[in-house]
Amino acid sequence: MSTTFQLDTSTSRANPTPVPMKRLTVPRIRARKVDGITAEPLVMLTAYTARQAQLLDAHCDLLLVGDSLGQVIYGLPSTIPVTLEMMANHGAAVVRGSYHSVVVVDMPFGSYESSKELAFDSAAYLLKQTGAAAVKLEGGEAMAETVEFLNSRGIPVMGHVGLTPQAVNVLGGYMARGRSDAEADKIVSDAVALDKAGAFAIVIEGVVEPIAIDATQAVSCPTIGIGASARCDGQVLVTEDMLGMFERVPRFVKRYDDIASMIDKTAAAYAHEVRTRAFPGEDQTYQPKD
Ligand code: KIV
Repeated sequence: MSTTFQLDTSTSRANPTPVPMKRLTVPRIRARKVDGITAEPLVMLTAYTARQAQLLDAHCDLLLVGDSLGQVIYGLPSTIPVTLEMMANHGAAVVRGSYHSVVVVDMPFGSYESSKELAFDSAAYLLKQTGAAAVKLEGGEAMAETVEFLNSRGIPVMGHVGLTPQAVNVLGGYMARGRSDAEADKIVSDAVALDKAGAFAIVIEGVVEPIAIDATQAVSCPTIGIGASARCDGQVLVTEDMLGMFERVPRFVKRYDDIASMIDKTAAAYAHEVRTRAFPGEDQTYQPKD
């Protein structure tokens, strides 16, 4: 798909500023799964900055402002310390940098679990501050009432089951889920509960493949896999993992490039030229006009 956007200069009260490209909507994403089948899998990647969003937008259906930004951007040890303000700032940048994809912002740990009213206030804050179309929250049956509450009040919700990183202290680590019968049943019933509550899509993370397939077949909304199965209705990866920004990645990540080496090589070339006074050269310096 081309990254050259067509500028649509027609405006209306519903669409008061010209838009380079018509943005997808949550109902259109939800409608990609018909009678249990998604003909063309949904493409989602994480984005945290405006420039990253610009580069990814034309290739994706959804951009996720994931709370994984805690580790990726801020160098935090987990997603637990991520705040609502961090999510709002990065969410706004991603919306400014995109014109096509549905932008979904993660609700950070502590901003939604204690009550559906707190969840509504946090989600409304995120949508107002960012212009994003939807939020994502972690948890299954325990969050179903909250998902229904938000959805019926105008806030589309993407669910997230299986390995839920905000629960790392309960789960005891980031290992794959669904290996015991009890765990497998719970993942499927969590997905079904979110679907019934009105989630428009559900991320299934880090689960053994047959369970990801069972959950995908058990729900009417699209599932988006990460460490799950190619038979989910879509896929998501953390963009920096996919680009090869980190040397070590989870087993389920495919590194499509080696950006870390490219940055290392380029920074070394720059440092060498600075130290040898080769940079700045004639092309990069201003001379007085004659
Ligand atoms: O925070 C995140 O980036 C996520 C994805 C890994 C699904 O939740």
